[in-house]
Amino acid sequence: MDMKTFGYLYYKARGYEQEAILREAELNEEEYYFFEKNLSSVLAEIEESRPQAEKIGADFIRLTRYIYERESDQAQNVARPDAVKVRAGELVSLPAIGKIEMPEMSLHKAIEQRRSLRKYSAQALSMDELSFLLWASSWARDFRSNERMEITLRNVPSAGARHPLETYVDVRNVEGINAGLYYYHPIKHCLVLLDASEAKAQQIFEGCMRQEMLKTAAVNFILSAVPYRTVWRYGQRGYRYLYLDAGHVGQNMHLAAEAIGGGACMIGAYLDEAMNEALGLDGMEEFVIYIASVGKKPAE
Ligand SMILES: Cc1cc2nc3c(=O)[nH]c(=O)nc-3n(C[C@H](O)[C@H](O)[C@H](O)COP(=O)(O)O)c2cc1C
Repeated sequence: MDMKTFGYLYYKARGYEQEAILREAELNEEEYYFFEKNLSSVLAEIEESRPQAEKIGADFIRLTRYIYERESDQAQNVARPDAVKVRAGELVSLPAIGKIEMPEMSLHKAIEQRRSLRKYSAQALSMDELSFLLWASSWARDFRSNERMEITLRNVPSAGARHPLETYVDVRNVEGINAGLYYYHPIKHCLVLLDASEAKAQQIFEGCMRQEMLKTAAVNFILSAVPYRTVWRYGQRGYRYLYLDAGHVGQNMHLAAEAIGGGACMIGAYLDEAMNEALGLDGMEEFVIYIASVGKKPAE
């Protein structure tokens, strides 16, 4: 869904008048009337779901208590899901984990000085620094696979070692790597080019509601979740764990960014439809869950 469609639906569903919708969603009259003609069923669905949407949080917590649990797919011997969902494309090597120069900052200092950083210097990240950020947040230090179970183990914890998160890397300013959207392969520790176009970067910027930091960041990490990896083991309760797992990744990203003389800002304010579309995700089997902008600190 593009920003205009989203804007029309969002403001229309909130009861805005035509003039306000034109202004807020940046539409011309022709676009407005096109949406009026074609989106009435979508609006009807939003209206119909509203009572459910208004209490879904409380229902979610209530209905994912253990008391409602049934035997999981894993317990019923349903075929195990794969531990990673690799995307095809041109491979870009990264400095090997064993060879990267690890920054020296103490944990105490990294925690103490961590702040959300939304303005970055124009300085590029080195490939070692990008590798270090990925090591801290997403790299698979172990991969175990047999017929019954497949897991990765990483530098962040994950409920049941299910590691349902995938990492996409919107490279903006990294020495030796062309700008573009990449998938990070956590076992091979390399990038897979998905889209090098400036239009893709713009789509991501729009999807994050034009938050300026995405533009000056050296890298924007986009985390997605593959829920079935966790749901297979934990049923619907697994959805809780996706978000807890993402929090761990975010904090390691923050601390690792401090350690390289930079900073991070986590992003939860994004448009699901736009971000899923930008990454080619269906929004159900895989969906964007969290984003981190990272760059070097600006001069004081
Ligand atoms: C789940 C989550 C979502 C967030 N989303 C955004 C966001 O979309 N935009 C933003 O500027 N900051 C975002 N932040 C950063 C918070 O605003 C920030 O952590 C908070 O203001 C406290 O400041 P500090 O991190 O500097 O201590 C988010 C943080 C978290 C943990």
